[in-house]
Amino acid sequence: NEKPQSPKQSVGPDYRPEKQKPTATVSTEVSFDNVHILPQTPQLIALLTMIRDKNTDRADFIFYSNRIIRLLVEEGLNHLPVVEHTVTTPVGRTYAGVMFQGKICGVSIMRAGEAMEQGLRDCCRSVRIGKILIQRDEETSQPKLFYDKLPEDIADRWVLLLDPMFATGGSAAMAVEVLKSRGVPEDRILFLNLIASPEGVANFCKKFPKLRVVTAFIDQGLDEKNYIIPGLGDFGDRFYTM
Ligand code: URA
Repeated sequence: NEKPQSPKQSVGPDYRPEKQKPTATVSTEVSFDNVHILPQTPQLIALLTMIRDKNTDRADFIFYSNRIIRLLVEEGLNHLPVVEHTVTTPVGRTYAGVMFQGKICGVSIMRAGEAMEQGLRDCCRSVRIGKILIQRDEETSQPKLFYDKLPEDIADRWVLLLDPMFATGGSAAMAVEVLKSRGVPEDRILFLNLIASPEGVANFCKKFPKLRVVTAFIDQGLDEKNYIIPGLGDFGDRFYTM
C-alpha cells in the first residue's frame, strides 16, 4: 500500500516560486498513519545530501547528522502530550500556552543509536538515557539481545527509541519487545531514525501499529546485504571511525 516514488520531485512546498524550486529525490511516501516523515524542505534535503555523499569527511558527517538528529528530536517531542498552561509576561499580560506533561527517556540501540544521544540531550536537559545492545547471533543469524540498561521506572515514561538507520527493522523490533516486556505500552514509544527502508517500515508498522515512527526519509529499498539504498553506507563506521 505504498505510493510509487518518482525519482525527481520538487523540494519544499512554499519556500520559493515554482520555477526557482530545486528538484531532488524526496522521501517515498507511505500510507501508515503512525509514520511521520519530516517535511522535505530544501534545508533537510541539503543536510541529507551532505551525509549521503561518500566524499564527506567524518567531521562534516557528524556535524550534518547532528543537525538532522536535532530536527528528528524536535518533531518527536511534538508527539508528547501537553496541557494548557497560561503564563504572565513581564509586561503584565497573559499568554495562553501549553506545557509538556509526562516523563520521557531515550533508549539508544548500540552502537549507532548512541550517536543520537547528544541531540536528545540538547533538547531535553538531564534526560535519562538507557541502552540496548542487539547483535546478530553468529549461529542463527537472528538478532539477539546482548545487553540492556534501562531506567528502573521506564514503564512510567515516554520512550524515544534511537537508531539512525532503519533497514530491516529486526533490531528495532527486538528493542521494542524488550521495552514492552519492561511494561512500556507500545503507544508510548517513538522510534526516531534518519533513513528508513520501505520494507522495514512496512514490517514494523504491521507488527506495532500503535508505535510512532519519526524519520527524515524513506529510501528506495535494501540491497542484498541489507544496506539501505541509496542510503549512506554504514552509519556507525562513518560517525565513529572513518
Ligand atoms: N545500518 C547502516 O549503518 N546502514 C545501512 O544501510 C543499514 C543498516
